[in-house]
Amino acid sequence: MKYLVLSASPNFDGLTEACAEAAATGIREAGHQAEAVRLNDLSVGMCEACGNGWGTCLNNQRCQVEDDFQGLHLKAVEADGLVLVTPVYWGEMSESAKAFTDRIRRCEASSTKDSRLAGKPVLAVAAAGGSGGGMITCLQSMERWIQHVRARTFDLIPVNRWSRAYKLEAIHAAAHTMAENKF
Ligand SMILES: Cc1cc2nc3c(=O)[nH]c(=O)nc-3n(C[C@H](O)[C@H](O)[C@H](O)COP(=O)(O)O)c2cc1C
Repeated sequence: MKYLVLSASPNFDGLTEACAEAAATGIREAGHQAEAVRLNDLSVGMCEACGNGWGTCLNNQRCQVEDDFQGLHLKAVEADGLVLVTPVYWGEMSESAKAFTDRIRRCEASSTKDSRLAGKPVLAVAAAGGSGGGMITCLQSMERWIQHVRARTFDLIPVNRWSRAYKLEAIHAAAHTMAENKF
């Protein structure tokens, strides 16, 4: 099985990357493939709300804004499951996580086509490194996104600076269990 591990921080060695690494290791130790992608290394712009609010996303499941989103969208559709790790910014997902999730939601949550993410397990992680606040509001919006694209919430894990050590273990275990696909 093939899993896509998305992380959404500009930092290469922070909490977000540590969480993504723990998840990828858990998947690989379960004997499956994990492709790690740092959203901030790609060019994924914002949804432009084309037309009257819907563009080609509605009927063609394809975003008409041409950038790195197209390739990433395909990888997500082809994956057996997803891990999404975002730093908590103002109690929400980071901008790169938001840009990606907004655009893929429009393509996969429209009422005219079946979602190609339907039923796929998603492990969502919100990493709060500052006050430690805002993890739950961030996870709420990640959960809403999972529901909109009709994927399956495997787990929602909040982590902050103080819980880092034991939450990294939990993320590793969650990803390992998700990849084993025995739930
Ligand atoms: C614009 C901005 C807003 C932030 N808002 C919050 C917040 O609401 N709560 C919190 O605990 N940390 C907040 N932080 C801190 C980040 O969550 C923290 O840096 C996070 O762990 C990301 O770290 P990393 O990039 O090293 O992974 C914020 C950081 C930035 C840059």
